[in-house]
Amino acid sequence: MGLIRLPPEIVVDDIVLRRPDPEQASAVVEAVNDSLAHLQPWMAWAQRPAVFEATALRLAVAAAAFDAAADAAWTIFDGASGEVIGGCGLHDRIGGGGRDIGYWVRVGWTGGGVATRAAAALTWVGFGALALERIEIRCDATNSRSAAVPRRLGYRCVGTFEGFCGAPSDSGETMVWAVNSNDWPTPEWPGESPLRG
Ligand SMILES: CC(C)(COP(=O)(O)OP(=O)(O)OC[C@H]1O[C@@H](n2cnc3c(N)ncnc32)[C@H](O)[C@@H]1OP(=O)(O)O)[C@@H](O)C(=O)NCCC(=O)NCCS
Repeated sequence: MGLIRLPPEIVVDDIVLRRPDPEQASAVVEAVNDSLAHLQPWMAWAQRPAVFEATALRLAVAAAAFDAAADAAWTIFDGASGEVIGGCGLHDRIGGGGRDIGYWVRVGWTGGGVATRAAAALTWVGFGALALERIEIRCDATNSRSAAVPRRLGYRCVGTFEGFCGAPSDSGETMVWAVNSNDWPTPEWPGESPLRG
């Protein structure tokens, strides 16, 4: 198999997903710290305010992993203002020819389909560029806003397992939502390709 090249920029309507870059660090710190109260119940990494140095390092590591197609994360921007409005990833954590998608959305930007459109784009990239067989979205069983994302996209809930409590609101039960490549209803992206670069 040749070297897989992940799309460094994906445009979906008015949102833009970009490859991680340490130059995004200040904007990411601001977006995370604005959103701490909404992230803390569910995200283990958001228990303390983000700081510039650690964020820049994390983005540099994510960029290197992205370039090696070892892991794939994107920072989400509002296309009009250029503000950072979230993050998402297609992570190599579940084995068996699959990957799982994660996401968070900046406070003030929820309720507009940012996470759903990002997850749709990553599903499409996963079945296209990465030729994955299966994609999952895992979330705590009580994180109903997160579970609504795969449900909206046509993923099926295939079960739950005893997870671990990494964040204060975690119940310890993890839901697994999955879609297989031959069940994905939109193997072709509707309209013009969203990939740039
Ligand atoms: C989980 C999380 C990303 C969900 O955010 P969200 O705003 O509910 O999800 P979306 O951005 O997809 O928005 C969905 C809403 O936009 C609406 N929407 C508007 N335009 C839309 C579009 N073009 N496509 C899809 N939905 C659209 C949907 O109908 C839905 O409306 P509703 O809130 O009335 O049901 C957010 O709550 C979050 O960041 N939580 C903290 C971090 C977290 O829990 N991450 C997941 C860990 S597993």
